[in-house]
Amino acid sequence: METLLTALRAAAEPTRLRLLSLCDRGELTVSELVQILGQSQPRVSRHLKLLCDARLLDRFREGSWAFYRLTEQGDMAKMARDILSHLPEKDDVMLLDRERLAQVRAMRAELAQKYFRENAAQWDEIRSLYADEAEILAHIRPLLPESPSEDYLDIGTGTGQFMIAMADFAKRCVGVDLTHEMLQLARANIDKANLRHLTVRQGDMYQLPFPAESFDLITFHQVLHYAEDPAQAVAEAARLLRPGGRLMIIDLQPHDMEMLRENHAHRRLGFETEQVHGWCQQSGLCALKASNLAGNPLAVGVWCADHPRQDARKAA
Ligand SMILES: C[S@@+](CC[C@H](N)C(=O)[O-])C[C@H]1O[C@@H](n2cnc3c(N)ncnc32)[C@H](O)[C@@H]1O
Repeated sequence: METLLTALRAAAEPTRLRLLSLCDRGELTVSELVQILGQSQPRVSRHLKLLCDARLLDRFREGSWAFYRLTEQGDMAKMARDILSHLPEKDDVMLLDRERLAQVRAMRAELAQKYFRENAAQWDEIRSLYADEAEILAHIRPLLPESPSEDYLDIGTGTGQFMIAMADFAKRCVGVDLTHEMLQLARANIDKANLRHLTVRQGDMYQLPFPAESFDLITFHQVLHYAEDPAQAVAEAARLLRPGGRLMIIDLQPHDMEMLRENHAHRRLGFETEQVHGWCQQSGLCALKASNLAGNPLAVGVWCADHPRQDARKAA
């Protein structure tokens, strides 16, 4: 009874309802929420604390940033969803909040893209600072599907080097990236490697220009730590996977190199397996055993998830 009353009291305030609704749309930091709501940081922090104490929001810290999101597990997760289901869709204040959220996201995406535009020419040097690609490839080889894939998609392909290294594993390889400058380099690298079955095209990982079930292998190689909304990017990849297809996410494990945020546009300081598996499962994929690669200086995780086969889906 007391838990229920605490949750109801926490939600029963206009700003806190707005915060719940915003945190249902992704993982947001206090400064982003301050920008959207136009209220002072201490005020917003106080509201957030009440919502976290009532377990309607989860807070998780990564380096000097704290992220907030709607509680996903436990009895309060349902309560949070129930409360949100009563919010009017067309409320003017909520609509404005959503517009501002879109603006904040667009601004951040533009900053990240600016980084990639400016660093496209040095990208091949920068990427080798994090982890040894030959080691990563040797590590993921046994995790690939047994027979070569028909259609392989590399999301956030950058200069295309990872897709080129994977070229033997598929009959057709497509790389997508948002940044034109990266794609120009990818095209030159593909030409140099003389690989006719590889192509690249421009696309946004949240809304990719392909019909559902177009690929049997999809990779994100060192992409999701830049993402505003990794869960949504994984959901879009899941849409494109054929039954029985495999998604592979190769990214950093949790670390504390804050300077990667300041100097290299990283949003997230690596990922926990539980989190990555959560995105895959929410998208209807079956997460497989995660595998880790001790790196220097940063450790890398390889997370695989399979699309359930047609018959398994029918049976479900
Ligand atoms: C760290 S680079 C990794 C490139 C490549 N996968 C590699 O391992 O070298 C991240 C890439 O993601 C791309 N990217 C960022 N946001 C994107 C989006 N919304 N849609 C598609 N690509 C995006 C960037 O342009 C950049 O090329």
